[in-house]
Amino acid sequence: MISFAGYDDVIQRVYKYKQEHVFQYWDQLIDSEKKALLDELGIIDFDLLEKIFKLKENSVPEDFSPAPYIKLPEDERDPEFMKARDLGVQFIKEGKVAAFLVAGGQGSRLGFKGPKGKFPVGPVSGKTLFHFHAEKIRASEIKYGVKIPFLIMTSRDNHEETVDFFRENHFFGLTPALVHIFPQNMIPSLDLDGKLILSDKSTIFMNPDGHGGSLSALRSSGALKLLEDMGIEVISYFQVDNPLVKIIDPIFIGFHILNKADVSSKALMKAYHEEKTGVFVRFKNGKLGIIEYSDMPQEKIFAKDSEGGILYCAANPAIHLFDIKFVDKITGSSNVNLPYHVAKKKIEAFKDGQQCEITGLKFEKFVFDAIPMAEKTVILETKREEEFAPVKNASGADSVHTAQAMMNALFRRWLSNRGVKIPDVVDVIEISPFFALQESDIPEGTIVPAQEKVYLE
Ligand code: UTP
Repeated sequence: MISFAGYDDVIQRVYKYKQEHVFQYWDQLIDSEKKALLDELGIIDFDLLEKIFKLKENSVPEDFSPAPYIKLPEDERDPEFMKARDLGVQFIKEGKVAAFLVAGGQGSRLGFKGPKGKFPVGPVSGKTLFHFHAEKIRASEIKYGVKIPFLIMTSRDNHEETVDFFRENHFFGLTPALVHIFPQNMIPSLDLDGKLILSDKSTIFMNPDGHGGSLSALRSSGALKLLEDMGIEVISYFQVDNPLVKIIDPIFIGFHILNKADVSSKALMKAYHEEKTGVFVRFKNGKLGIIEYSDMPQEKIFAKDSEGGILYCAANPAIHLFDIKFVDKITGSSNVNLPYHVAKKKIEAFKDGQQCEITGLKFEKFVFDAIPMAEKTVILETKREEEFAPVKNASGADSVHTAQAMMNALFRRWLSNRGVKIPDVVDVIEISPFFALQESDIPEGTIVPAQEKVYLE
């Protein structure tokens, strides 16, 4: 057994759980590397790893039906929607809403080096995802005459770069003291035999613990306490890769308040049966939740409603509101752990003295697993073309190209619906959040210049 002063406990634990292969390069390490390795091993919950290794497959409740949701009205001036909007506006103006961006993912499908939030998406401006999100929040602050705290969850791998980016860009006009950037927890990946993986001679390979780690990270980072002290009641959760997301949406917030919901979620109508998105369901115990596409039985994927439409039609664009008391409850004394999901993934490992790619198991929590823990949940329909353009892949579907095309189309629609003429020569239009956050913000008398690329700011 190896030895290192002050680390007997850690070393014994590693041997007890039969993970001593992590010391195979011990003799080649200098003292600071040995200490770093032991520090890393010291915070690993080996019991938990043993338990989740046995998961192998995700367990999914079998008995569920489609979830009820609030449908979009035919007429925008629908009294229920107007009431929700007024209430939401009032609530935002009272300073009770914070924005929460989860940006700790590895963005492996996009293949972009660095935090995904630094990826340029503006079809004309070339603005990054972070820039878009921050400007929407700043524009909402101006519109509603209020300060809006902005929380950003990063991971160990992209934290410093994210903080630096916001600093270099002067927080995009937001109040620096109200922008809280904190890293999420990491969890070791395992090889197919349940062994820890080395990423170099002295480092354990870990991955961020999934967007579901965001709720506990809110507490452990101190952000939750800070929000409570500021009188925040609702946290608006969104993901980094969606430039169309309405971060501060009065109608959504209004329905959440009206229904005294713990969690509210937006839903998109599934485009076709085999579309690979999670769907909202109601479990046997009456609680609502989401089932991932890969966990849906075939017959349910193709199930039809009485009119021949898609039965499980409400898909998840990952836009949620969390009541702060609910987050406090499930992460606090009655700490309810969200389950881990396991996925086989390619991992860059250090094995047999060299870098190589192996297949391993990554464990992640999903934020939507908090939904069934809620007493009350509201699901509100939203339009894909208005609010969901994820940048997941380098090309093809859900790429920057599809997102930019959707932005261009949306901004054109806003202008046309407001009676603004768009000259034929115009190829691409981008509207800055400061110019308009939504269609009704487009000022009277807006003129679109006759040029190929137009940026309204
Ligand atoms: P994705 O599921 O798209 O994962 O994350 P990803 O890591 O960004 O991309 P791939 O799968 O490697 O290509 C959806 C959202 O959840 C955040 C991401 O940053 C993104 O906003 N996320 C994901 C976290 O914050 N932490 C995680 O551990 C995982």
